[in-house]
Amino acid sequence: MLIELYSTSAGPSPPWTPIPFPAFMLGRESEMENMLSHMRVNKPLHIAILGPGGMGKTTLALHFLHTESVINAYPSQLFISCEGRNSLDELLLDIAEQVGIPSEQRKEYLQNQILGALKKLPIIICLDNLETLWEPATLRTITEGFLNHLSGIQTLGLIVTIRGNQRPNGVTWPQPLLKPLPALKIESSLKTFENIVGIQPDENVQRLLKDVEGIPLAITLISNLIRDEAESPEALWSRWQKEKTKVLETGQDRKSSLTISINLSFNSPRMTEDARELLHLLSFLPKGFSNANQMLEDIQRYIPQFRQALTVFKSVALVEIDQQLQRIHVLSPIKHFTLECRSYFRLQKPTTEFFIDLLSKYQDKTSFRAHQVITPEFYNIRVAAMMEVN
Ligand SMILES: Nc1ncnc2c1ncn2[C@@H]1O[C@H](COP(=O)(O)OP(=O)(O)O)[C@@H](O)[C@H]1O
Ligand SMILES: [Mg+2]
Repeated sequence: MLIELYSTSAGPSPPWTPIPFPAFMLGRESEMENMLSHMRVNKPLHIAILGPGGMGKTTLALHFLHTESVINAYPSQLFISCEGRNSLDELLLDIAEQVGIPSEQRKEYLQNQILGALKKLPIIICLDNLETLWEPATLRTITEGFLNHLSGIQTLGLIVTIRGNQRPNGVTWPQPLLKPLPALKIESSLKTFENIVGIQPDENVQRLLKDVEGIPLAITLISNLIRDEAESPEALWSRWQKEKTKVLETGQDRKSSLTISINLSFNSPRMTEDARELLHLLSFLPKGFSNANQMLEDIQRYIPQFRQALTVFKSVALVEIDQQLQRIHVLSPIKHFTLECRSYFRLQKPTTEFFIDLLSKYQDKTSFRAHQVITPEFYNIRVAAMMEVN
């Protein structure tokens, strides 16, 4: 497969791909303290961070990994997102790529090779959005088997983040268990707003933030709408109440103030139809899109509205830029929301064309540049090819 063809044979040495740098985090002092005390007592460390979408699981995991004492205990760190993966094999290929198992050796006993490579040093691995490979009943047993092997390595710290409130079997999660992440307290919600917008919340904002029920993603979305002055807090509050009624009436998701705030951003006066289409595309592509200049210039020839639409939803915080990996990606709860809205969008065809042309541009599989450009696009290319078939 492509990923094998394009992979380097000389593996990089640790610390591998740097883990992403998280946005600021408020109100998670007790969870951080719990996790650090787990680390002091339990060797190796096994932690499951649970909670609903947008509650700040990934953010907490990344802050923890960037903590000095964690770096000292586990100088090599791997952060792997399971999102968009359809099987354990795909996850194994991702890990193989990161730990530098040569492509010609990946065809057999890959799991054993990975476990062997991970045994060599004190390392911490974070499997983000593990629910993707654990929720489906068909994958559960095999994923738990892999977790079980990982947890048997004495020098390996294991962190998983899972949407929901259940922990996988196969790992002994040490007591006291880390409870599913709670909502932020109102003080932290208000402070988050202040941090993003740079002003004190007025009465309308305070009402909004109270109604948002302490879900960090919802707070972030509301704050961004206000920061960009696309509409006044008063107008936003009135729109919030309308959206809320709509959500309650349609029974989309009865409790979810997150759904309401995603709707608010989605229907913000700033959002254009082009931006909604592009958001749909970015949600559809498992690896989001590259933020490298050359790639942005190239895609512009197929989707001329790309950059402008991107600017729009960057401003309403519907996408994130991973500066280290240079990728633009849609946060998982927003992705779920967007993909539920509709299944067809206009940009499918130009996207497929773009990827086909990209493959022919980088035909030379021995070239380092081809490897650099094509490997991160592997899953996107596969999805684009499937769109073509359908
Ligand atoms: N404790 C926090 N304080 C402020 N902002 C936060 C906090 N936790 C998360 N966020 C913001 O909320 C959004 C969603 O967080 P994320 O970690 O992606 O959630 P999850 O992984 O649970 O879906 C991000 O934009 C993040 O910057
Ligand atoms: Mg997450």
